[in-house]
Amino acid sequence: MSANVAAIVMAAGQGTRMKSGKAKVLHAVCEEPMVSYPVRLAQALGAAPVVLVVGHQAEAVEAEVTRRFPDGVAFALQAEQKGTGHAVMMGLGALPDFEGRIFILSGDVPLLTRGTLERLAASVGDADPLALVSFLLDDPTGYGRLIRDGEGRLARIVEHKDASEAERAVQEVNAGIYYVDAAFLRSALARLGNDNAQGEYYLTDIVGIALADGHTVRSVLADPQEVAGANDRAQLADLDRAMRRRVNAALMATGVTLVDPERTYIGSQVQIGRDTVVEPNVYLRGQTAIGADCIVDTGCVLSDATIGDGVHIKPYTVIEDATVHREAIIGPFSRLRPKAEIMEHAHVGNFVELKNAQLGPGAKANHLAYIGDASVGPKANVGAGTITCNYDGYGKYRTNIGAGVFVGSNATLVAPLTIGDNAYVAAGSTITDEVMPDDVAFGRARQVVKQGRATALREKAKAEAEAAKKAKGKVG
Ligand code: UD1
Ligand code: MG
Repeated sequence: MSANVAAIVMAAGQGTRMKSGKAKVLHAVCEEPMVSYPVRLAQALGAAPVVLVVGHQAEAVEAEVTRRFPDGVAFALQAEQKGTGHAVMMGLGALPDFEGRIFILSGDVPLLTRGTLERLAASVGDADPLALVSFLLDDPTGYGRLIRDGEGRLARIVEHKDASEAERAVQEVNAGIYYVDAAFLRSALARLGNDNAQGEYYLTDIVGIALADGHTVRSVLADPQEVAGANDRAQLADLDRAMRRRVNAALMATGVTLVDPERTYIGSQVQIGRDTVVEPNVYLRGQTAIGADCIVDTGCVLSDATIGDGVHIKPYTVIEDATVHREAIIGPFSRLRPKAEIMEHAHVGNFVELKNAQLGPGAKANHLAYIGDASVGPKANVGAGTITCNYDGYGKYRTNIGAGVFVGSNATLVAPLTIGDNAYVAAGSTITDEVMPDDVAFGRARQVVKQGRATALREKAKAEAEAAKKAKGKVG
């Protein structure tokens, strides 16, 4: 492939048939907005920059793409959608001095593969200004048709709405994917008109222009499913399913067990190690990376999670932007929020929430706890119902719990607070002051026992209830 490659991804259209308040390219395929796929593909092929042509909901699209691709993507605004030729013209505006080849891709064609684009690039002779991708359809309605001359050479592309009866019978259609020389593209776009059925500037007219300039335009055939776009929700669901099959097949090929791949929802950027087992109805999103020999049980939702080897994540655990080290046990029903870090061999049990907190090696928080803005030392035990009170309505404060500490059930730890190594906190305590190593801290009222008073209390309660009943009877 030539050294200088850029890409223009068209993503300005509204996608009317989606019937959506959201731009079409932001609808998700396999846990990721559709537009991510062509952008990543272009980058993988060395395209720099990748220019995204935005229009409909430009700000939202730009924000989402910038978040996912902080580098290498430029944006060009097509304020009014006057056709694909006009879209690319706007895109070229972001490449004023670029010389070389440009991939032109569509924001709504997520299944396109690297292999097809490599074949496309390889099909272009040094002197050819462009090549494009075509495919065959039994029912080509709606697509641009590839019209060939008597020798089978591509002569031009005619859009469905402009085609004659004979042309409409042609089953080879344009996929809308091109590889074009930048200088030719500039010159050809300057010559586009909009005298056609839709009154639009058709990018497809550059084929006729290349021929008129005496060039040859080649096409490469692609698998129809790979170049399919999402125009409505039903097609979106089809693409989603196809992408899921592709992602899941690739994971299984590397030694991951997916118990029911049709019901396991994994993003294309997720990594999973060998012999890890993923049960059904699990969602793995974003940049999640899971080690080898793990179990991710049913109903778990992991986003941008980093999980070490041999971790067992029990059912219905939710993890977001958090790290779990090797051989820890999490769940069922645990929640790890951003910047939670669970060290090796630690245990987090049901209804335990951690946020911006580290649970040390071998430490345990097995039931009903909130640990926020805290660190828990190695082998410490956080009892059921323990709460770190990290927030006073204005600021956030830290709780540091040392190694080997035993925090009794239902302790309320008011931050900022330090509890020294091997200290004990009595159950039911509210702790506001530092506890030194090896100390025992009580923070609760001392128990009082009144011997035999239960009987008297019962008699009194009974008498009061009967008196109340009588009084009510009189009134009634
Ligand atoms: C286009 C092709 C057609 C091809 C088909 C493949 C033209 C004239 N026709 O038709 O030959 O068979 O794709 O799917 O190119 N877009 C913009 N700005 C615009 C118009 C479109 O950014 O002003 C974007 C859309 O968001 C979309 C892509 O360009 O991502 C294709 O546009 P679309 O309107 O779907 O083109 P088609 O009429 O389907
Ligand atoms: Mg279309």
